[in-house]
This record gives sequence, C-alpha cells and structure tokens, in this order.
Amino acid sequence: MESVPFFVAGRAVHGEGETTVRHPYDGRVVGRTSVAAADQVEAAVAGAAAVAAEVAALPAHVRAAALDHVSGRLAERADEVAELITAESGKPVKWARVEVTRAVSTFRWAAEEARRFSGEVQRLDTDPAATGRLALVRRVPRGPVLGITPFNFPLNLVAHKVAPALAVGAPIVVKPAPATPLTALLLGELLAETDLPAGCFSVLPLPNDRAADLVADPRLPVVSFTGSGPVGTAIRRAVPDKHVTLELGGNAAVVICEDWSSDEDLTRAAGRIATFANYQAGQSCIAVQRVYVHEWLYDGFLPRLVAAVRALRSGDPADPDTDVGPLIDEAAASRVEQWVDEAVAAGAEIATGGRRTGTTYPPTVLTGVPRDARVNTDEVFGPVLTVAPVAGTDAAFAAVNDSGYGLQAGVFTHDLRTAFAAHRALAVGGVIIGDVPSYRADQMPYGGVKGSGVGREGVRSAMDDYTEPRVLVLTGIDL
Ligand code: SIN
Repeated sequence: MESVPFFVAGRAVHGEGETTVRHPYDGRVVGRTSVAAADQVEAAVAGAAAVAAEVAALPAHVRAAALDHVSGRLAERADEVAELITAESGKPVKWARVEVTRAVSTFRWAAEEARRFSGEVQRLDTDPAATGRLALVRRVPRGPVLGITPFNFPLNLVAHKVAPALAVGAPIVVKPAPATPLTALLLGELLAETDLPAGCFSVLPLPNDRAADLVADPRLPVVSFTGSGPVGTAIRRAVPDKHVTLELGGNAAVVICEDWSSDEDLTRAAGRIATFANYQAGQSCIAVQRVYVHEWLYDGFLPRLVAAVRALRSGDPADPDTDVGPLIDEAAASRVEQWVDEAVAAGAEIATGGRRTGTTYPPTVLTGVPRDARVNTDEVFGPVLTVAPVAGTDAAFAAVNDSGYGLQAGVFTHDLRTAFAAHRALAVGGVIIGDVPSYRADQMPYGGVKGSGVGREGVRSAMDDYTEPRVLVLTGIDL
C-alpha cells in the first residue's frame, strides 16, 4: 500500500515516517500517509502568507470556478470518496454517501456565494454635513486561515473550512484529525487540480500535539477549530488576539410536546430520534442525546422509541444495510460503556442496549437517569439516549437549557406559538421544529452558545467570519 502524499502550498509531498490508518471496525490497515516535517509546516505557512494578497485579489469567477471544480469532482468520485470515509472513520456507508452529497453542495454553495459576495452600499447623506457622501462597505479577508478538523465528518467538516476560505480569497492550512487524514488528502488532490495559486491551500497530517505551534503562528490570523471543548478553550486562551471560531460539542435535546400526540406523530418522532441518536454511532455534535416527552405521552412513546432503536442494524459499516457502525476507537467505546455503567449504578434503567464488542457499542436507551449523570450533562458522542417525562413545555425548555452546552434543539410540535416560544426560550444556536436537533443544511448558520462554541459556520456565515468590513467613503456624489 503506497503512502498517500499530503499537500504543502499546493504541492503533493511526502514527509517523515509512516502513519498507518486503520479501519475502526476491524482494525485492518486502510491507508498510509506520513507526517509533515517542521520545514514542510514552515513552507505551508510561509506559502499561505506569501500569496494572501494575490488570492484576495483573485476575481470572483476564478474562485468560483475552483470551487465548482471541486464540487463536480466530488460528485464524479462520490462512491470512492464514500468508501474512503467509511474505511477510515467507520461511518456506515449509507451515511458516508450523505456526507459526500452534502460536501458537493457545500462547495457548490461556496461557488455561488463567491459570485454574490459584493458588500453593500450605504447612503451617508442622512446628515446635512454628509450631503454628497456614500459608503461602500466591502468585506476583505482577515488573512490566511488555520482549519483544524475532527474525525466525525472527515470530508464535510473540512469542506466547511476550505470552501468559505477560498470563496472569500483567503489561503487555508488544514490540519485534519489524525484518525482520518485520508479523505482530507483526497480533497487536497482535487484542489490541486484547480488553477488556484500555489500556497492557497495546504493539508498537513500532524499529531495533535503539534497543532499548538500552528495556532500560535501570527501568519495565520484566523483559527477555525471543530472538536472538543477543552481543546477549543485552550486555543482561545492561547491566542486571545486572533479571530477564533470554535465548533465544540453538545448534548442535544429534543422535546415532544403535548400536541404531538397522534399514533402517526409518535411513530414518526420515535423513528427520527432512534435514527439520529445512532446515525454515526452517535458521533455527531448534534446527535440526539436527551429526550423530554410530555408526561401524558410518555407511556405511549417509550415502547415506540425502544422498538425503533431495536430495529436499527449494527454491524460492518461497509454493508449498505448497516445503520450503526463502530465508534472511532476502543477507548471511545469503552468510555461510553463506563458512562452508561455509572448511570445504571446511580439508578438508571436500560430500556434497550447490550454489551460492547470491541469498538462497537449497541444503541442504548436509558430511563430514570439522574440529572447529574454524565450521560445527561456531558457529550456522550456515542449511541446512547436518555428519556424523561416532563410536565409541560416550560418544564421541557428548562430541562433543555439545563446544560453547559447549547448547539441545537429539536421540538416536535404542530403549534406555531410553541415554535416561537421555543425559539425565544431555548439557549441554543438553532431550533428545529417538527424534527430532531440533528438537522443541518450546509448553507444555514451553524454553531452554538455556552460550551458549544463561538462563531458560526455554514458557508455564508463562515465567509463573514473569515473577513472584516472595510468601508470606502465616496465624496461629492450627486445622489
Ligand atoms: C458536527 O458534528 O458538529 C457536524 C454535524 C453536521 O454537520 O451534520
């Protein structure tokens, strides 16, 4: 198996030693790459800084064409890319295909936004002294971006950093997750096919303990990080003067309101919750973790949920019928097991679940979970749901907010007044009505409050984030 090259200032290169990437399901080797040496990291950062002005000045059609190219090539190679995502992350191939489709749109959206990103005109003659003045407010890149990406969406969460950067004309250096570098390297291959200037992008496989130097490098004034809370907090503390976007974790909650009561309603909610608590073994920041059900509906809902969870097929993620695959590694699966065991020792009951086998943890539903059990308070990042009855919407919204996180929440209701009440009351970055919190469209703002992070991704939001306004005041204009 040949070592896959990585990208330094647009050039495919090999680095030090050999990194072996293993399949989380069965441990077999799925690819090899190498680690960027110190001089290669330096070349990547220097390259980004050297072309920053040139890239910022690229016409929109050049940036959009490059983004469209990547979108088109991902679509052409979709099956291969999906298989690679499955091989290195263990994500069931049915979900890997969804991820590729989403990345195709993320790049396409970025191309469209690059064409539209024009700034705004503001008249200033609102004051007699400013008669004849007009402001043009345009956004200019803050400078090269450092993107640090996680293992759970090895393609689309890289796309969410690369595509907006290129759309605004900012070079980007990506450090993919050590467990899943191969998909990011394939993306590098597609970027290398474009006419973007060398230096515009680098993809550097590095161990996590070498990220701090990149974070601290003043030539990378924007840091966009997706990953764990402690690492995000450390980044923010390390570089308070930089522009830092943090997409951190969550313990997403969903509420089933009193009016969501027909057989059809309850069956639909149970199916959606079962699917999106377990869709990549729960390893999504917006996987459903906590379920609050109106007390009158609880007894009718729980058996439906348990049946829907039991109907999910666990197994080899390469099998197109598999719903739930492994966690990223055995340490992750064993941590989930430990948290469930702790909750049970504190009085929780397992409505369905089982024993861990290696990296695979069975989809598990817990009831009677103490409020302060880690499966409630922390991010499980595993296929585990807690379910509790609540006395009404106010109590449900209070329970949702009783969390150190605030990424997205789902509210099953037909009532528009309840929808707006939820939007007012819930301290989260997004409220999804009539569905689970796991819904995400790649063009919409995405991010959280409290421990879930700062800033927003979603193509246009990230473009705003990677740029700052620069005003041009014109004088002596006859308006
Ligand atoms: C995440 O885990 O934060 C990303 C979720 C998604 O893009 O669907």
